[in-house]
Amino acid sequence: MDEKRYLTFALGKGRLANKTMDLFEKIGITCEEIRDKDTRKLIFVNEKMKLKFFLAKGPDVPTYVEYGAADIGIVGKDTILEEGRNIYEVLDLGYGKCRMCICGPESARELLQHHEQIRVATKYPNIAKDYFYNKKHQTVEIIKLNGSIELAPIVGLSEVICDIVETGTTLKENGLMVLEEVCPLSARVVVNQVSMKMENERITKLIRDLKTVI
Ligand code: PRP
Repeated sequence: MDEKRYLTFALGKGRLANKTMDLFEKIGITCEEIRDKDTRKLIFVNEKMKLKFFLAKGPDVPTYVEYGAADIGIVGKDTILEEGRNIYEVLDLGYGKCRMCICGPESARELLQHHEQIRVATKYPNIAKDYFYNKKHQTVEIIKLNGSIELAPIVGLSEVICDIVETGTTLKENGLMVLEEVCPLSARVVVNQVSMKMENERITKLIRDLKTVI
C-alpha cells in the first residue's frame, strides 16, 4: 500500500510558472492540465507521483509555504526579500534574472550621494527601507505603489524609484536610468521548515534532480 502523502507546490502565476513547468518536465515531473492557458482551475494533481500544484499571486507564495499549505514554492528573490517569511530558500533556479535598482533621472544622482531626504516610490517598501536605512543610512520617505513605478519620478511623485530592471527598456523609453544597484534577483525554490524535516528524502531528491538540469 502506498501511503505517500501529496507534496504540494505553490507556483507564482505567470512567466515563472511556465518556466518552472519546463524545468520540472526535464526531471520527469509532468502536469498537463496546468499548461492549459484557458483553464480557470486553481489546483492541479499528478496522482501517479502524489504531487499537487497550485498557482498563486507571487507575493502570496511565501505565505502559503510558511503556513505549510504548500511544502515547496517557486518565487522570485524580490518577493522572498519583501515578504520576509520564515521559510528555507534552498535553490537558485537561475532564470527570471533581473536586478533590484534605484532608478531616476540623471539629475537625481547627486541626491543619493549627498544623503538628502528624498521620496522613493516602490512596490517593495521593505526592500527599499532596508537599503536606504540599513545599508546607506539615508533617511527617505517611502511611497508604496502597485505598478508602473517608472511614472513616479516623471510626474513628480518621487525623486527616485526602487524597482526591478530586466532589459532596461522601460527606463530608457521614459528617460530614466539605473543610479544604484540594490541586489541581483532570480527565481528561487523555497521550502516549508517542517516539510523539510518530515519529507526530507523526497525534497532533497527533488533539489538534487533540479540541480542536474539548471
Ligand atoms: C517590471 C518592472 C519594470 C519592468 C522592467 O514591471 O517593475 O517596470 O518590468 O522591465 P524592463 O527592464 O525589461 O523594461 P512589470 O512588467 O512586472 O509591471 P508593473 O509595472 O505592473 O510592476
